Amino acid sequence: MIHGHVTAWALALILFFVALSLHKSGKTKGFKVIQMILRVLYLLIIASGVGLLFMVYKIDIWYILKAVTGLWIIGLFEMILSRIANNRRTSVFWIQFIVAWLLVLYLGFDKLPMSILNP
Ligand code: HEM
Repeated sequence: MIHGHVTAWALALILFFVALSLHKSGKTKGFKVIQMILRVLYLLIIASGVGLLFMVYKIDIWYILKAVTGLWIIGLFEMILSRIANNRRTSVFWIQFIVAWLLVLYLGFDKLPMSILNP
């Protein structure tokens, strides 16, 4: 479950940057295809995240914060791509993107116990 979760968000992060570069080079069709694939990945990230939550004995505030931050990142992926597609400003969302990623990596890898890094 945790491997599926990490694979899903890592792939989403890569495809997010692929979508940005496709947009930069004017490939609108390719951009739209990646955006669709990303939406499927969002569902997989959420499903695997909820699956992980079911494995937790006692869901505390850190788990809630982790889940909320994860959803926040998904919202930002979607927000940044849709605003870029409409040629609107994204700077405010990029600041949030960095903050949310720092928080999610800290919570996921450092604060909370389950990890792909554990033997
Ligand atoms: C793009 C969005 C997300 C990112 C980048 C992300 C990132 C991470 C990371 C880095 C870990 C730790 C992996 C490890 O230590 O091997 C993790 C674990 C976890 N994630 Fe997410 N996540 C996201 C979305 C979500 C969502 C939406 C939920 C819940 C609905 C969720 C729930 C969890 C849970 C319960 C764990 C296990 C925590 C533990 O006990 O260590 N995640 N996630």
